[in-house]
Amino acid sequence: MKILIVGGGGREHAIAWKLAKSPKVEKLYCAPGNAGIAQVAECVDIGVMDFERLVRFAKEHEIDLTVVAPDDPLAAGAVDAFEAAGLRAFGPRKNAAILEGSKAFSKDLMKKYGIPTAAYETFRDPEKALAYLETAKMPIVLKADGLALGKGVLICKTLEEAREGVRTLMLDKQFGSAGDEIVIEEFMTGREVSVLSFVDGKTIRIMTSAQDHKRAKDGDQGLNTGGMGTFSPSPFYTAEVDAFCREKIYQPTVDAMRAEGREFKGIIFFGLMLTADGPKVLEYNARFGDPETQVVLPRMKNDLVDLFEACIDGTLDQIDLEFEDNAAVCVVMASGGYPEHYEKGFVIEGLDQFKDADGYYVFHAGTKLDGNGRIVTSGGRVLGVTAVGENLKAARANAYEAVKKISFQDAFYRHDIGKAIDEA
Ligand code: AMP
Ligand code: GLY
Repeated sequence: MKILIVGGGGREHAIAWKLAKSPKVEKLYCAPGNAGIAQVAECVDIGVMDFERLVRFAKEHEIDLTVVAPDDPLAAGAVDAFEAAGLRAFGPRKNAAILEGSKAFSKDLMKKYGIPTAAYETFRDPEKALAYLETAKMPIVLKADGLALGKGVLICKTLEEAREGVRTLMLDKQFGSAGDEIVIEEFMTGREVSVLSFVDGKTIRIMTSAQDHKRAKDGDQGLNTGGMGTFSPSPFYTAEVDAFCREKIYQPTVDAMRAEGREFKGIIFFGLMLTADGPKVLEYNARFGDPETQVVLPRMKNDLVDLFEACIDGTLDQIDLEFEDNAAVCVVMASGGYPEHYEKGFVIEGLDQFKDADGYYVFHAGTKLDGNGRIVTSGGRVLGVTAVGENLKAARANAYEAVKKISFQDAFYRHDIGKAIDEA
């Protein structure tokens, strides 16, 4: 099979690495890819939103399957564009990707179908939103309705902060039209867990759990980022939690989308909060998580091609999804200054040591080859240094040992990825 992956970050590197292991894959392409992905796939210089050129490329190169990984092209209808041209593509169609693309839609869906989530109200009128805040309990959470690079969520401790938040989202339009409508919701406390799943429209297969670390600095300090590291499995995701979520959250979500005439085929990522009142949905994503994928796929036993095909063909009920009885930790090495201003173009040293090292995976997020064939930094998040181990402690020790062998100017990373497991 010839497969095209759309995307170019750490998540796409993990997907490409996993697909490259399949005996069914004869050729892998990735658009636009990065310097790490180039080790397992041929990178093609086409942007993820350029559907016309992507479709033309897939036709010209007789691609059997295209995997659309990022949220923006999914929400804009990339899968529909491939299907309209008679091509097979993995991922939700536009009418189903709205599960992530609109927070107001997903909240209303959960309310309508009784899926546990934080209490909320939606607003299109800033004056009404401001008036609502006057009687609301603090802290409170404001969310821009649309996609905002994971940054459209404001946790406000005081009424003044909340008023300021409404102005930022709805009047100053800091996230553009994503803030035309906002969700104001109850602040929840508890452990966060990410659960990824394969969905074929009616059947859902749950992957192993993971946990992200969103803040830039140790101890969950600093600004929100795209994710500074992950571990899998989460020791807080117990059998009891799993049973509850299967009955009250996972299958009900798939059934709800079908009932709405928005059959979902692809990946549903459940962002869960384990509250004192039981697990509740924080958010849905309609795609693999980044950097959750980097710790989940190295533990997956199945051939990923089989899962993608089963989701498209509606035959997921015939697949047993299996994971290794081990653990994985991913530590993100970022450019100094991320998530604010940072410089690019620094040479990365030490990568060669991990080319064939068993149990170590250096997934590239923001890298490229310079004119001299050297791998240099080209983004905020640069590498997802991942290692497996027999348990979380061992995986964490292995990942940090690997991080110490890699360097580039101004590199920084969190030192406490997976530290929460010490409390489990
Ligand atoms: P989201 O993009 O919806 O996942 O929100 C980003 C982050 O904000 C989540 O991972 C949580 O840490 C936090 N968050 C979102 N909603 C709430 C909530 N209702 N209560 C507490 N924290 C929240
Ligand atoms: N790691 C969170 C996300 O992919 O949105």
